[in-house]
Amino acid sequence: AGEASDGMAAHVLVFPCPAQGHINCMLHFAAGLLDAGLHVTFLHTDHNRRRLGLAAVKAEADSPGLRFLSVTDGLPDDNPRTAGDLVALVESMMTTTRVAYRALLASLRAGAPRDDGFPPVTCVVADGILPFAIDVAEELGVPALAFRTASACSFLAYLFVPKLVELGEVPVPLGADLDAPVRGVPGMEGFLRRRDLPSFCRGHDGTGGLHPMLRIIAEFSAHSCNARALILNTTASLERSALAHIAPHMRDVFAIGPLHAMFQEPAAGGALWREDDGCTAWLDSQADGTVVYVSLGSLAVISVEEFTEFLSGLVSAGHPFLWVLRPDMVGASQNAVLQDAIRAAGKGKARVVEWAPQRDVLRHRAVGCFLTHAGWNSTLESVTEGVPTVCWPFFVDQQTNSRFMGAVWGTGLDMKDVCERAVVERMVREAMESVELRRSAQALAQQVRRDIAQGGSSAEEFKRLVGLINELSI
Ligand code: UDX
Repeated sequence: AGEASDGMAAHVLVFPCPAQGHINCMLHFAAGLLDAGLHVTFLHTDHNRRRLGLAAVKAEADSPGLRFLSVTDGLPDDNPRTAGDLVALVESMMTTTRVAYRALLASLRAGAPRDDGFPPVTCVVADGILPFAIDVAEELGVPALAFRTASACSFLAYLFVPKLVELGEVPVPLGADLDAPVRGVPGMEGFLRRRDLPSFCRGHDGTGGLHPMLRIIAEFSAHSCNARALILNTTASLERSALAHIAPHMRDVFAIGPLHAMFQEPAAGGALWREDDGCTAWLDSQADGTVVYVSLGSLAVISVEEFTEFLSGLVSAGHPFLWVLRPDMVGASQNAVLQDAIRAAGKGKARVVEWAPQRDVLRHRAVGCFLTHAGWNSTLESVTEGVPTVCWPFFVDQQTNSRFMGAVWGTGLDMKDVCERAVVERMVREAMESVELRRSAQALAQQVRRDIAQGGSSAEEFKRLVGLINELSI
């Protein structure tokens, strides 16, 4: 399957935005390409590569046909690279990384001298958040596809930002009624409220201007129309309508997810934090469906007050819980104190870790519900396992994803814009007890499993995509 028709092996350079949610999903994508017999060069940033402790030699030995290379992200090593620093990261990559990436790709494409045992790179699949990676590839004569790791529904909303601005819906003024319905995102008029728009649609700094991240992401979304195709980690069962509304704007669209459930992550792995395996043994000691799993993803930063509200609500709900408290989530200097606070308040019923093997946790029989920030990977991981959710969306696409869980799929409760102990307690109790939520979550999981099984829509779309990559690689 990996042979382009003139016999040259297709070799894809996969380039994710250097954030955990993007890396995870594009690593599974890379694994799918390997399964199909293609070669893959997976491009990290130097900073992440150091964090991953990746030895290129080990990675190559683990998965023949796959190698990891890296380029600079242009930021100093001590930059925290969390939610508040994303503009700096994106801007630095658009300038410094662009130059390094260009030089690297020029040395990897057909015609360049090489003794690395890999065929020339014949195609680039770059994160849609890195549009320069698509432009540079095409300038160098290498065909490029855009990969967006977030939901189709949020992508559609970003695509329609110019329309939303024209209609006066965006930016949502500070102090406006957030429950008011939003016009202008096709297919979502019935249920999308202002509070469900991607977070950066909200008024910025009281100036009434567009948030810089909204400007950037909207521009990047429109840019994906230039790519040979748009690849989305989603599936028809979840986002049929959004996919249909995106299609006319793109040269081609492939919905090939949820990738984590289709392909095994390469052995080299991609976790930027050290996983605490001990929590699986702790889960083994708990009864079926009794544990609340709490994780707010890889970028969210919360205040001590929000931390305290979550903790009080969880303790009052009365169930055992497993809480992921990243060292950079509230503040590294406070982490040990907050971890102790969780253990003390949990009275033997709480387990706290800095990073969990989340996909294994969600698959575990002991987990009864997931208190999540509704990042798209976490959303897909809970949907695939049929685990009901309580959503506290933090930013970017998460506000829209949580609306889907709360109002469209009926698999979760949307706590959006509120962080009060009484609400946390009530929603966790309801998510643990509601037969209806569990039934909807399990029914959706079955549909998604049909999409990824042989002959299902995502499996077929993945094959079609490999066909396109092979064609472009001739
Ligand atoms: C954000 C966005 O919300 C997301 O939609 C976008 O595509 C990327 O940026 P993030 O905060 O990283 O995402 O959340 P999410 O998309 O859910 O990804 C987090 C990943 O880290 C998941 O794959 C999850 O399984 C993993 N994870 C999280 C762990 O493996 N262990 C943990 O303890 C926590």
